[in-house]
Amino acid sequence: MHEKINRLLAEIEGCTAKSNDEVEALRVGWLGKKGSITSLFEEFRQVGAEEKRQFGQQINRLKQAALEKINALREGLEHHNDSKQTFDATMPGEPAPLGARHPLSIVRGEIIDIFKTLGYTVAEGPEIEDDYHVFGALNFPPEHPARDMQDTFFITTGDNPVLLRTHTSSVQVRVMECQKPPIRIICPGRVFRNEAISARAHCIFHQVEGLYIDENVSFADMKHSILYFAREFFGEKVQIRLRPSYFPFTEPSAEVDVSCNICNGKGCNVCKHTGWLEIMGCGMVDPNVLEASNIDPQKYTGFAFGMGIERIAMLKWHVRDLRHYFENDVRFLRQFAAT
Ligand code: PHE
Repeated sequence: MHEKINRLLAEIEGCTAKSNDEVEALRVGWLGKKGSITSLFEEFRQVGAEEKRQFGQQINRLKQAALEKINALREGLEHHNDSKQTFDATMPGEPAPLGARHPLSIVRGEIIDIFKTLGYTVAEGPEIEDDYHVFGALNFPPEHPARDMQDTFFITTGDNPVLLRTHTSSVQVRVMECQKPPIRIICPGRVFRNEAISARAHCIFHQVEGLYIDENVSFADMKHSILYFAREFFGEKVQIRLRPSYFPFTEPSAEVDVSCNICNGKGCNVCKHTGWLEIMGCGMVDPNVLEASNIDPQKYTGFAFGMGIERIAMLKWHVRDLRHYFENDVRFLRQFAAT
């Protein structure tokens, strides 16, 4: 009996409960009609007179301990509930700190939105390409020095080497291969050129190139589309000018300048006192390029253009060093929060 009492005491001391129901179950288990302590009182009646005194005290202490434990558990639960009730669900929450979108993502989004209003859709393609899609299909003759215009990272050598694309014109080739005109796409994406990294050049940068092929697409259509883009992006007052240029895949080709948005064309450091800033290359798609992708150059004409997102973003925010875009310095990136 002595042993039983000690075991029960230890059990009572170690007890925990998560709800009032559990506390009640413990109470019934100890002190209910068939409870373990209640049955000890039955046994107590049978012990000899000399032991009665000692056991009586022990059983009473046990009962006391059980009652105290039950009260303590009930109180603990009540406190717990109290603290729940003091939670005020109507209090304003902690504000979640807003991050910033990367400036290149912001500008890419703006460019895409502008061309979407002209009916262009977005096309994407692989960054690891083959020579054919980056050069061959775009009228770069083999061994022609035109290939040197874009210093290329080669992955394999051979007949049709694998390389990192130097422009997203490769995506245009992939679309022309499997889509019939009219084609009206813009191709945003990351491109790679083997260039020394400086404030004005990087070996990785981003482009948005565009392609429009249909019957009767003219140089005037191209010029107007680019003017529309420039006005939407840089503001109503911006002017553009086209300078003759050369690309293997367009003929005629041009370089597009916008009037300097810092000095309004008067001449300043940024535009090197010319009043103009170069923003993209463009031209009428060379018939050889159409033919390479099985598009009839007698029936269809088209124009293409391509711009660097870093450059456009530099002009928009007057960022002077291109390397900022790649360093992920939060002091730089935070400035673009909520724009
Ligand atoms: N692909 C050219 C470049 O990467 C840009 C361009 C695209 C020029 C389309 C003319 C027409 O520099």
